Amino acid sequence: MASSLWSPLSLLATLLLMQTLAQAQTSSDSFIHSRAAYYPNSDEKGTDSGACGFGSFGATINGGDVSAASDLYRNGVGCGACYQVRCTNAAFCSDKGVNVVITDQGSSDRTDFILSRRAFGRMAQTTDAAASLLNLGVVDIEYRRVSCSYPSKNITFKIDENSNYPHYLAFVIWYQQGNKDITAVQLCEAQNLGCKLLDRSYGAVWTTTSPPSGPLSIRMLFSDGDDESWVVPTNSVPGDWKAGETYDSGVQVNV
Ligand SMILES: *[C@@H]1O[C@H](CO)[C@@H](O)[C@H](O)[C@H]1NC(C)=O
Repeated sequence: MASSLWSPLSLLATLLLMQTLAQAQTSSDSFIHSRAAYYPNSDEKGTDSGACGFGSFGATINGGDVSAASDLYRNGVGCGACYQVRCTNAAFCSDKGVNVVITDQGSSDRTDFILSRRAFGRMAQTTDAAASLLNLGVVDIEYRRVSCSYPSKNITFKIDENSNYPHYLAFVIWYQQGNKDITAVQLCEAQNLGCKLLDRSYGAVWTTTSPPSGPLSIRMLFSDGDDESWVVPTNSVPGDWKAGETYDSGVQVNV
């Protein structure tokens, strides 16, 4: 493929990366004003068919506190990002609001977020206030990017059900911790160390035709615009990977 780029492994890059990850960032960004709605006709949680391609994970991750994003979807780069969203009506809304994970794309009436029903209600101070909020349907909010946190979870690769071993590999990345975006993914041969950049097919789904045989190492570029670093897994995806299966990378980024 024309866009493929094979390059040798650099141990130095790995070491630099570890250093960068040790400098965890906390979010001190100020809030941005916007509006939020919630999924109509949905159950409490998100949707299994979210645009990010996370499947049922995208409905239930973070206890179901998930959201569709409008501009923040950013052609899929925004998938897996976390935001603190709080409504601004002092009579109903808590200071803390709710932290949501982006798992879908969508907009309603000038909204940046379409929250799961559960997440929408959790912006309220009380159960009664939640009922009032839900009655409003669309509310003024303010939001900011925050770190995602998945205690006791490593970054995990979920092989998409549409994969076709050994000809076509598609996967999504689960438990993307922190507040950086995954902007590129490299598929490397765990033994020969040749790598190629993958294509983002849509949402959070990365794909390649004719993946190399043998164990695979999936590297991820974490970026916040200012600095970026490759995260190198300690575990390989086995050479006999299976559609629908999940594989633990053995690594996690610090928050
Ligand atoms: C994460 O990976 C490490 C190895 O790098 C492993 O020891 C640990 O058990 C993993 N954690 C989970 C929750 O699977």
